[in-house]
Amino acid sequence: MRVYSQEYRGFESLTLRQTTPRLRLTDQIEWNHEPFFSRMYSQFNHRITLAKLSQHFKTRAPSAIRLAQIEFSKRTDKVYAVNTAIGNVSLPMYPAMQKRMFSLDAKNSPFKDGVVKYTGTVGTEEAREAFLSIIRASGFNTEGLHVQITDGGSQAMELMVIGCCGPAGTKEEPLLLIDAAYTNYISMAERLGRSIISITRSLEENGKFALPDIKEIEKVIDENKPGAMVVIPYDNPTGHFYDHETMVKLAKLCVEKKIWMISDEAYRELHYTGQPASSIWAITEEEVPGITGCRISIESASKVWNACGLRIGALVTDNFEFHEKAVAENTANLCPNAIGQYIFGALAHESVDNLQTWFSDHRKYYKKLMEQMTADLKNRLPGIIISSPDASIYSVVDVRNIAKPDFDAKDFVLYCAQKGKADINGKQMTLLVAPMAGFYNPKPGEPNPGLTQMRIAYVLPPEEMKLVPELFATLFKEYDSI
Ligand SMILES: Cc1ncc(COP(=O)(O)O)c(C=O)c1O
Repeated sequence: MRVYSQEYRGFESLTLRQTTPRLRLTDQIEWNHEPFFSRMYSQFNHRITLAKLSQHFKTRAPSAIRLAQIEFSKRTDKVYAVNTAIGNVSLPMYPAMQKRMFSLDAKNSPFKDGVVKYTGTVGTEEAREAFLSIIRASGFNTEGLHVQITDGGSQAMELMVIGCCGPAGTKEEPLLLIDAAYTNYISMAERLGRSIISITRSLEENGKFALPDIKEIEKVIDENKPGAMVVIPYDNPTGHFYDHETMVKLAKLCVEKKIWMISDEAYRELHYTGQPASSIWAITEEEVPGITGCRISIESASKVWNACGLRIGALVTDNFEFHEKAVAENTANLCPNAIGQYIFGALAHESVDNLQTWFSDHRKYYKKLMEQMTADLKNRLPGIIISSPDASIYSVVDVRNIAKPDFDAKDFVLYCAQKGKADINGKQMTLLVAPMAGFYNPKPGEPNPGLTQMRIAYVLPPEEMKLVPELFATLFKEYDSI
């Protein structure tokens, strides 16, 4: 008990005043106190806890996306980090959403009296309508679609895994991912004890991520009998755009094999190839007979609406039974974020024209940034491969042609986060990117293409994004010369 109280005093004496300067050091991650608190708690717990951590917790490490940020937060020199590791958008939210946020005490606000009650588990009528109206604004029919509001697309992913995959702790009806895949699908499946299987896309020399032949995908489905296939038509991490034709091909396969087709449309409308927007909701019965009732989309307020911290998303489906059961499952979470729903609900009242203008402004914004960065980096590091800037807000860079044979992107990322620096206009800076190995799930014995790849997120203001090619090239050359 004495040990407990000594440690407790130590813990108590860490006042907010002491912690604030340290958090300010990493001012671009001011809301992420994780590294600091986890160190503090781990010291504290180490001495007082007799209970055992679960096997799952013991093996849990932070996601690859957070690695650079966590390591950088331990640094004590005054180097400034250009943080492109995390898809944390720094643009302002849609104006009508901002208006609601700034006037939560307005006469017509449900929060004017300071009361924040649970909403229904399924979400408010208005927030659900907002999701339908943004799908309609992209030109797709929303008749027969059912919406469950969630705390971010992340929670929708979790519900989807529970609803589509086999029993926990078994390999039955695994989740089929298309590598390189958004890592949190793997994390969610692990959390819930469900298995995943993958098919791999490879980054070609021309920067295109090509899907394997449909026959090969079919073989993987026949061998593993997945419960669902996940596609991310505006892809994170690859920047790959799945056009309508590709979506139709994959949908036919899902119907033929009787598996759910899951389309993660967190970045819907952020595509730069000049083709029409694509969506699971654009597929018609004429094109894919039987598709109705097999579809689920994962929706998010985070990326297109610049509201990462709002934590609003949705699970949309044209299968009523799935919807009902998802709501029943979600009753354990009580309700989605009430204030977030109210703010996002503003979109239910916007005209199609306004929403389309927002889409096209954002397309222009990201297209320019991605094209500039791609060209500049290729100039500075001839031989580097960069994914074609076709969609979403990410590029994958691959140094396989220019790095030493034993190059490991994770080590390079750690080097940049822990000690690498470059002098940019008299300021000491470093660059944070995400190593890509964790985005792949190679078969035992197969090489991981992610070892030479890193993901860059276009989340900083243009003046800062402009620094990325110079920083990457300088740090890469410096690291390569060690
Ligand atoms: C493809 C994709 N889906 C879902 C999410 C989850 O988004 P959120 O939980 O912020 O809505 C992300 C976040 O980066 C993503 O990239």
